[in-house]
Amino acid sequence: MDSQTQKKLYDLWLQFAVMVVRNQKLEPPQFASVAQLFGDTLQQQLAKFTLQDHPLVGTISSRDLPMVDGKLKVRGENFHTDHSNYSAPPKSTMLHAVALPSHGGDTQFVDVRRAFDELSPAIKEKILPLRSAHVYESSKSPRKMAAISAEERAKVPQTLQPLVIRHAETGRAALYLNTGRMEGIEGMESSEAVKLIDDLYAHATQLKYEYRHQWKHGDMVIWDNRSVMHQANPDFDPAEYRFLYRIMLQGAPLTAYQEQHHEETVT
Ligand SMILES: [Fe+2]
Repeated sequence: MDSQTQKKLYDLWLQFAVMVVRNQKLEPPQFASVAQLFGDTLQQQLAKFTLQDHPLVGTISSRDLPMVDGKLKVRGENFHTDHSNYSAPPKSTMLHAVALPSHGGDTQFVDVRRAFDELSPAIKEKILPLRSAHVYESSKSPRKMAAISAEERAKVPQTLQPLVIRHAETGRAALYLNTGRMEGIEGMESSEAVKLIDDLYAHATQLKYEYRHQWKHGDMVIWDNRSVMHQANPDFDPAEYRFLYRIMLQGAPLTAYQEQHHEETVT
């Protein structure tokens, strides 16, 4: 791809935040080279969901999934943004569908930039200075995170993230939420923080902000974790095989939309 086309593609991706490319047939090395058009590939967090021959390419397989109460448990079963507990979370996640069930297993996205833009001025003012602690698994998490070894858990970071981030490339404001990992809000009483997070989450996950991707064989989807949240669906027949490759792209540390000035006043 020439650099002009690459830039055009990249700019469209920044603008729309979710890009779908149909009818691809990418082997892991080709998928990895497509990823390089958009950024630097991130090391996968969970070794057990990684291709042995291609350690930068992760896998999402229905055969890895546990059944709970007769229902399939998928990873990412509520709206979230990936690895938000990292100080520099992946700017993007990419999936390529290799095998799909006959129906179900859609991926939903919500635009958290528009969700922020459409908040009332009073709420905006209230949340702009706030930060939330993001941990591996919040004590209030609506879902169980993948079980990890004590050794892996010791390496998992936790980070204070702004509630409203400034996109490092476009400068746009976006809500930054992940109910599976947010452990309260800095300087706010716990029940008040939980209420605020729940209200923002309910606002941001309205249907009007959503694009629902129905997978077709050969689809490649790349999204911007700074601009959308996403959610997986477990509503497919567990006897059918669903298999996707996953790559994440390195991001920069997140910054607050509203710069904080912690100036000391000398009296
Ligand atoms: Fe995810």
